[in-house]
Amino acid sequence: MQITQNTAAIVTGAASGLGEATARALAGKGAKVAILDRDAERGEQVASAIGGVFCQTDVTSDDSVAAALEKARAAHGQERICVNCAGIAPASKTVGKDGPHPMALFQQVIDVNLVGTMRVMSRSAAGMAQAEPLDGQGERGIVVNTASVAAYEGQIGQAAYAASKGGIVGLTLPAARDLARTGVRVMAIAPGIFGTPMLRGLPEDVQDSLAQQVPFPVRLGEPEEFGALVCFMAETSYMNGTVIRLDGAIRMGMK
Ligand SMILES: NC(=O)c1ccc[n+]([C@@H]2O[C@H](COP(=O)([O-])OP(=O)(O)OC[C@H]3O[C@@H](n4cnc5c(N)ncnc54)[C@H](O)[C@@H]3O)[C@@H](O)[C@H]2O)c1
Repeated sequence: MQITQNTAAIVTGAASGLGEATARALAGKGAKVAILDRDAERGEQVASAIGGVFCQTDVTSDDSVAAALEKARAAHGQERICVNCAGIAPASKTVGKDGPHPMALFQQVIDVNLVGTMRVMSRSAAGMAQAEPLDGQGERGIVVNTASVAAYEGQIGQAAYAASKGGIVGLTLPAARDLARTGVRVMAIAPGIFGTPMLRGLPEDVQDSLAQQVPFPVRLGEPEEFGALVCFMAETSYMNGTVIRLDGAIRMGMK
């Protein structure tokens, strides 16, 4: 699809990091962008910086997501691009100092990262399916979900996070197949190590040592590179049903 001033987009997790960079990249191409995030203060800031709309959202709640989509669509019309970046990454070992992995924490990570992504994707795609095709091929929209290289090479303490991201990898192809008849594509990006606020908050030497693990370019990924890939996926209609690693060739090992 072409991203134009008539294109409406929604981005979850867009108050920060990769989601924010994606919202900025889409707005830079003229799109009308709705920021869906639970963080109202930063979400409002990003929305006003890009001339978008902020919709306070908890992706773990049906009602919250329904209300957010209603607000976004009232402002911009039916979204044709849905990007899921909302996520959390708490660390906990399968058996830690205090005993077995807390199940409530495991479930919370799955609930936000995996179920939250599915909730927003399916509700968004249901709206896209009712909309007019954008072209002669019947394309109606795209969903881009955020996985992680942890889906393939999770680190110590990442069982819950890696399971949630593995779920996103796993649903990419069947969701694309489910939605094929409606002309809605589904893609996923598996980022390596990106310089988002979370990572930039780490001490310089820790950031450097993470960067040194990347074969080339030897640095953290820039959130703008993620945003650019989302735009490329939207604009390249033959991309569908697959996960693209965006990671400078890193393959996380275990010491
Ligand atoms: N930064 C990296 O190196 C990296 C690597 C691989 C994958 N990822 C994934 O990319 C995505 C974005 O990560 P980031 O680094 O930009 O993180 P971030 O913490 O900067 O941003 C995440 C955003 O999600 C929002 N959020 C969290 N829970 C939510 C909920 N229940 N409802 C609505 N919003 C919620 C937060 O408020 C925040 O604005 C995540 O899914 C993360 O797992 C990041």
